[in-house]
Amino acid sequence: MKNVILIGFMGVGKGSVAREVVKNSEYIAIDTDDLIESMENKSIKKVFAEDGEAHFRNLEKRLSAWLQHSVKNTLISTGGGFYKQENIKEIGIIVLLHSPFDKIIKRIKAHPNATKKLKKRPLLNDLKKAQELYEQRLPEYKALADVVIDVTNKSALECAKELLKKVKKYA
Ligand code: S3P
Repeated sequence: MKNVILIGFMGVGKGSVAREVVKNSEYIAIDTDDLIESMENKSIKKVFAEDGEAHFRNLEKRLSAWLQHSVKNTLISTGGGFYKQENIKEIGIIVLLHSPFDKIIKRIKAHPNATKKLKKRPLLNDLKKAQELYEQRLPEYKALADVVIDVTNKSALECAKELLKKVKKYA
């Protein structure tokens, strides 16, 4: 099994899909934001507020080097900006979870913990700016992806099954 790297915009459901992949396959999953939170012993929100975005991006860079050399056979879900790492293609098969911006926001707002989900993501505080970021990133996400999964109106389980089927040919 090669590594599978889940990329995509904030709130698209990378974590939920990763959890379903784990339930339905042999993959172990890790998450770049979770790793950064353990490295720093604080939340991503605090890292942004206390140390700044540049520090956060440096940590992502350190992680990407470590992932490339030390992690195998793993499903790696990433923060929405992690795709910018120069070596991302060397880490594994890149799977983009895609949905239109308005559907992503609708999905987050429908969640019982919507306020918390919005608050923990500093770059979602201003929705107008977030939409600009989405539009700027979308072509870059698509250009990188080996596999694209349109997650709109699909359950996490359906997306996980589609992912497992589509990555088989890269194994
Ligand atoms: C970010 C996405 C977040 C987190 C950080 C920055 C981004 O992760 O890494 O707030 O630049 O898009 P999620 O995509 O899991 O929300």
